[in-house]
Amino acid sequence: MTRIDDMSLDLLFGNARTFPAWLDQPVEAALLQQIYHVMRMGPTSMNACPLRIVFVSSAEAKEKLKPCLMAGNVNQTMQAPVTAIFAHDLDFYKKMDRLWPHSVVTPMFEGKPEYTEQFAFRNGTLQAAYFMVVARGLGLDCGPMSGFNNAKVDETFLAGTSWRSNFLCNLGYGDKTKLRPRGPRLDFSEIASIV
Ligand SMILES: Cc1cc2nc3c(=O)[nH]c(=O)nc-3n(C[C@H](O)[C@H](O)[C@H](O)COP(=O)(O)O)c2cc1C
Repeated sequence: MTRIDDMSLDLLFGNARTFPAWLDQPVEAALLQQIYHVMRMGPTSMNACPLRIVFVSSAEAKEKLKPCLMAGNVNQTMQAPVTAIFAHDLDFYKKMDRLWPHSVVTPMFEGKPEYTEQFAFRNGTLQAAYFMVVARGLGLDCGPMSGFNNAKVDETFLAGTSWRSNFLCNLGYGDKTKLRPRGPRLDFSEIASIV
């Protein structure tokens, strides 16, 4: 059997935390590209790959993001070297000739905005999660956030596109001294049944 070792599992989950404070240490663009290169191989329905990302990193772009945030998320986001806007492309299916050449699937989506949005949201969310897991695997810390105004982020960063924001994620090197004790998780017996 092939499996990753326990140290790697701890890096990805066991010891990995959500960080609310960040060290003053930059994140290189090459590392963001490397994360994408790995995570893009994660599965999506019909290989649709609807995730799109805007990495907010310049001081100017951070200032634009600031008024979109819930008050409790402002400091951590301003401090983080990079904030990813995880979005999904409502026109994702226009690239499926290339991504899913086995059959013509555009009729499944054309003129069906509700179905298309649900499909993009589901698979874009999965891909964002893959991104966070790979980021941790490559040594970065993550701070996902849904406390922001999606419409405002869309208007500020995604205007004129078919992309819609899902959630934000601060990326960098977390300040361990600012962590609260970890919250518990539910037991297997509470969340699962094997039938
Ligand atoms: C989709 C999502 C949205 C979240 N939104 C916020 C947020 O708006 N602000 C915040 O401080 N933390 C936010 N969190 C952080 C969670 O509270 C945190 O990941 C969870 O408590 C687990 O913490 P741990 O990884 O340190 O165990 C969010 C996490 C996720 C995955």
